[in-house]
Amino acid sequence: MSLLSSEALAAIDREIAKYPPEHKQSAVMSALRIAQVEKGWLAPEVVEFVAQYLDMPPIAVYEVATFYNMYDLKPVGRHKITVCTNLPCQLQGAGEIAEHLKRRLGVDFGETTADGRFTLKEGECMGACGDGPLCLHNNHAMHVKLTPEQVDRLLDEWK
Ligand code: FES
Repeated sequence: MSLLSSEALAAIDREIAKYPPEHKQSAVMSALRIAQVEKGWLAPEVVEFVAQYLDMPPIAVYEVATFYNMYDLKPVGRHKITVCTNLPCQLQGAGEIAEHLKRRLGVDFGETTADGRFTLKEGECMGACGDGPLCLHNNHAMHVKLTPEQVDRLLDEWK
């Protein structure tokens, strides 16, 4: 049986079809994203499965999976909060937001709360520098111009 569902494989096949057959490796980022959404994180056997599916050496897939911080090579909480800490966001208060989150959650960057609800991550520039400080929720929803009060509201929302 495949490690991924037939729906996930079909989604990866659609990505592969966007490239000439000899360049199916170009779908690696999408394939990792699809696999991560389905599995929650990229366990070694998932990375190896993606490598095999795309006819790539596993090390080449690991190079991609370790370079971009939206990929999780360790299990994460139900809510992954990634705070951009690059300079433009820092100048707009990202440090204060990060400290507030650490205090509220009782974890540091790269850690998950004991109840498995939240993982806090440090992120790189997300191309929305004018709207800092900001965070990304579960790799998809961006919350901008954060204040500690807004962070509190979001944490209450994310059960
Ligand atoms: Fe934070 Fe660019 S520096 S989004």
